[in-house]
Amino acid sequence: MRLTIDDVRSRFIKHFDGTTGNVYASPGRINLIGEHTDYNNGFVFPGAVEQGIIAEIKPNGTRGVCREMMALGVPVEGFNTAFAGDVPLGAGMSSSAALESTYAFGINDLWGEGKIDRMELAKVGQRTEHKYVGVNCGIMDQAISCLGKKGALLRLDCRSGEYEYFPWNPKGYQLILVNSCVKHELKGSPYNERRLQCEHVAEVIGKIHPEVKSLRDANYDMLEEVKSQITEDEYKRARYVIGEVVRVLTVCDALQKDDYETVGKMMYETHHGLSKEYEVSCEELDFLNEVAKEEGVTGSRIMGGGFGGCTINLVADELAANFKKVVVEKFEKKYGKKPIVIDVVIGDGSRRLC
Ligand code: GLA
Repeated sequence: MRLTIDDVRSRFIKHFDGTTGNVYASPGRINLIGEHTDYNNGFVFPGAVEQGIIAEIKPNGTRGVCREMMALGVPVEGFNTAFAGDVPLGAGMSSSAALESTYAFGINDLWGEGKIDRMELAKVGQRTEHKYVGVNCGIMDQAISCLGKKGALLRLDCRSGEYEYFPWNPKGYQLILVNSCVKHELKGSPYNERRLQCEHVAEVIGKIHPEVKSLRDANYDMLEEVKSQITEDEYKRARYVIGEVVRVLTVCDALQKDDYETVGKMMYETHHGLSKEYEVSCEELDFLNEVAKEEGVTGSRIMGGGFGGCTINLVADELAANFKKVVVEKFEKKYGKKPIVIDVVIGDGSRRLC
């Protein structure tokens, strides 16, 4: 994390009584592949980044309300707090999950004796999104923020909750984010509608194939069988998700063989699906994807929920410097503003700093 403890401490001291509290941190994330698969009970493959949120917290003896933690039996009391962040807002890097995870982790440490495990803390953040923000998100963002490990991606089965760390040590390649600066906000976006469409298709397929509980269990043949019973949009959404669940596993296998060409090919397929079938792209993101292709980038796609934010690019080391320069020039020429280029370093999940 690039932020330092002082970024919150100075504010904390200024606003409160001059004493200090505990400082906690949680990161934002990247996701190599597996987009919109989490709420379809499929796989995701994210990693925590070095940027995130840090918060200083000190109990002040008054009563506070952190309902979800209290619902888990943690006797939360009032507290003084200050926080700061360096994960860009609205960039599809999960700044909100970083915030939720920081407080869930800190509260667990201060009042819960650290007894609630990290996956449960992630679910606290997810429920907060569902109940208080109104975004019916999956578990990916909060899970990686709580569970992230330096230098490793996390393959998470969003149905069973099982996960495995994969060392991220690409030989001759690097990950580069290009933030279109088109503000992505899931609240009020068609995100919840996409989820409902997926659930509806799974339900229709489930009437014929009772083993299908969510789209994770479906295949293309099953989808064809129900084509006349669903809308054209639903058909497209489901086609994308069925393909994406398989792509995550393909990428995990390819990574173990250092086969970055396959990883990249899958990333381009994901972009195509997110743009044309799932329809969560925008002109700027499609443009960034085209530039990546033109510049010989191995893999490129929209990252996160879509409707703005970043593309994630798998770039051969020898092309990286030129790509970073050219993508900024071409984007600025077309849209009159510079995108922001971010080098990805995979960092740790939630932790206490002091
Ligand atoms: C957002 C949500 C996640 C996930 C992604 C898309 O980041 O919070 O749960 O659905 O979009 O993969």
